[in-house]
Amino acid sequence: MATPVTELDLPMMLLSDGTAAQRMNSSVDLPTDTWIIKNLFGYAVWHYDDVTGILRDKRWHSAAGKIAEIMGVTNEQFLERQTVNILTAEGDVHLRLRRLVAPAFSPRQADRLRPFMREVMNGLVDKVAATGKADFASDICEPYPIPIICELLGAPKSDWQLFSRWANDILEIFSLDMADKLDLIMRTQDELDAYTRELIEERRSKPADDLLTDLIAAEEAGDRLTTDELVMMVNAVIVGGTDTTRNQLGCAIGLFAEHPDQWALLAERPELAQRAVEETMRFFGAVRGTARFASTDIVYRDILFPAGTFMSVGLAEANRDPEIFDHATTFDITVQKSDQPQLTFGSGIHYCLGQALARAELQEALPLLAQRMPNLRMDGPTTWKPEGVGIFGPASMPITFDPGH
Ligand code: HEM
Repeated sequence: MATPVTELDLPMMLLSDGTAAQRMNSSVDLPTDTWIIKNLFGYAVWHYDDVTGILRDKRWHSAAGKIAEIMGVTNEQFLERQTVNILTAEGDVHLRLRRLVAPAFSPRQADRLRPFMREVMNGLVDKVAATGKADFASDICEPYPIPIICELLGAPKSDWQLFSRWANDILEIFSLDMADKLDLIMRTQDELDAYTRELIEERRSKPADDLLTDLIAAEEAGDRLTTDELVMMVNAVIVGGTDTTRNQLGCAIGLFAEHPDQWALLAERPELAQRAVEETMRFFGAVRGTARFASTDIVYRDILFPAGTFMSVGLAEANRDPEIFDHATTFDITVQKSDQPQLTFGSGIHYCLGQALARAELQEALPLLAQRMPNLRMDGPTTWKPEGVGIFGPASMPITFDPGH
């Protein structure tokens, strides 16, 4: 007979406790005599095998749709909207969406944007190269993903500012006081929806070489995305694809500033870009964790988790699991430390849909920055964003480097 989890005497703690410096340099001290702890909402696991075991078990459903409720939001219309979403869909509904949209997010599609990514990053560095000083968070991270998402979707350059505002406002859903910002979030979502519907109409009559046209044309066995689903996908791309990428870039630079030898090496050997991205995401990922809830009674490791049990999964901690990664607590872009992937893009059916695009964005950005910002150092303390509900990175990061490159 499995023991109900409620009958176990488990320590109560938070996975992501500790300062930013602690997070960058080592994980929080977690108990060694148990593989599961209690937290404010339910339970938490952090070993690589438990994290992947739960994320790959389809009976554990995404808790993303429940975050608003947990944050105290009661607005029915808003809550309803959060449930019609690829990130929260499960079972056949999710499978159908993933099958339809996956080809439009392939590595080949992401690769088409690489020259544009370099152009955007060079443009941003041009503005600060002469002085050798920048706030890396606001000068580089903040503006980098928006033009790329616009180019991907097929939105014109004249709308970059608009998208930037929409992304910032909608991303308030990840803030701790999101319940107070509901009016703004909903108003912005309406504006974006109206804009997207217009763009869809335009592409239907005049197809172009972009994601929206690909999504409109996506078809499997006679099935197609509805207009509402297309609008939802555009929303998902903005929510999933802007703050994640910019924060991951900020985390990477924070890390490289502490490892100048690795920075110099990347400038010298840009072919290390791919490994550098995997190692920075393993060592200091911007998405620290995610959450699931039990859709039914689940027995795992001889313990019964009743339907509705909330489970946090520590991606950042799993990425430093010494059972999986050799020299898990050292940062080194020259060696592959495991056959297993780093987990900052998640695992299982909700594995990041935009991973090829995000990887391309970071693989293009990092070696270019290493070459154009030699001798990178911190020029004052970094202010880290509050941890919120999972995405983490610098709010401000003053840096200095050798000018004129
Ligand atoms: C470094 C950048 C990124 C990181 C660290 C990241 C991380 C993640 C993670 C951890 C998940 C799974 C969440 C869960 O299982 O609960 C996810 C899902 C997702 N991501 Fe990303 N992401 C990044 C960039 C992007 C980009 C650029 C896009 C879009 C162009 C994107 C779109 C999505 C979507 C749509 C999902 C939901 C997939 C599904 O539920 O089937 N992400 N991402």
